[in-house]
Amino acid sequence: MKERNISGENPEKEAAGIAAAGLVSSGMVVGLGTGSTVAYALQELGRRIKEEGLEFFGVVTSYQSEMLAIKAGIPLTSLSQHPILDLAIDGADRVDSNFYAIKGGGAAHTREKLVSMSAKRFVVVLDSSKLSEKLDHYVPVEILPMARELVSAKLKELGGKPKLRLASRKDGPVITDNGNFVLDTDFGIIEAPEELSLKLSAIPGVVEHGIFSNVDEVYIGKQDGTVKILKKKKA
Ligand code: A5P
Repeated sequence: MKERNISGENPEKEAAGIAAAGLVSSGMVVGLGTGSTVAYALQELGRRIKEEGLEFFGVVTSYQSEMLAIKAGIPLTSLSQHPILDLAIDGADRVDSNFYAIKGGGAAHTREKLVSMSAKRFVVVLDSSKLSEKLDHYVPVEILPMARELVSAKLKELGGKPKLRLASRKDGPVITDNGNFVLDTDFGIIEAPEELSLKLSAIPGVVEHGIFSNVDEVYIGKQDGTVKILKKKKA
């Protein structure tokens, strides 16, 4: 699939983002993810609104996506008003060969999970560095601040090495859009993502973790501006 207007600064991310923006049609309600790849999709959606008269509503996943959506001129709604979305588009930090993903590099995975789980179709946009046979990326775990010691101990019992994510240009920890901390937890290569996902969700004090099992399609941008599309087979 050949895409248009690739500027060259980050061609893989840009190609994937633009291609996914092409899935949006008038009348839809669309989940808008967070991160540098989906930012290209938001920009392209803004162009389509202005130049093609595209009409749809977006549901944001973070303050970043809210700001970018407003800048692009995308009208917004909420999950309370639209609990079922036609589509959600988001980036990821890793996707494995079974379509399990790790998200949360930007600490937005809690709202990203709520929005993507509300969508009939969840499309992830990536550059080629994010694909791997098995998940081999740390898992961001958003926690209530007062649960830090308890959750850290439980993560260690599961074989993880939790590290509190520290802020840059602010002393102390990253505070998420929901007012919480993030423990970036290294589990090495994750052989059984579904099992780990269930165990993480069961820890008291965990708000949400970054393992996603609901990816339907993956759009992988390539250097030449083309996009490879992988679709999960329905069970
Ligand atoms: C935000 O918390 C993340 O889940 C992002 O969607 C993910 O880190 C991908 O970001 P990039 O597109 O910037 O790599």
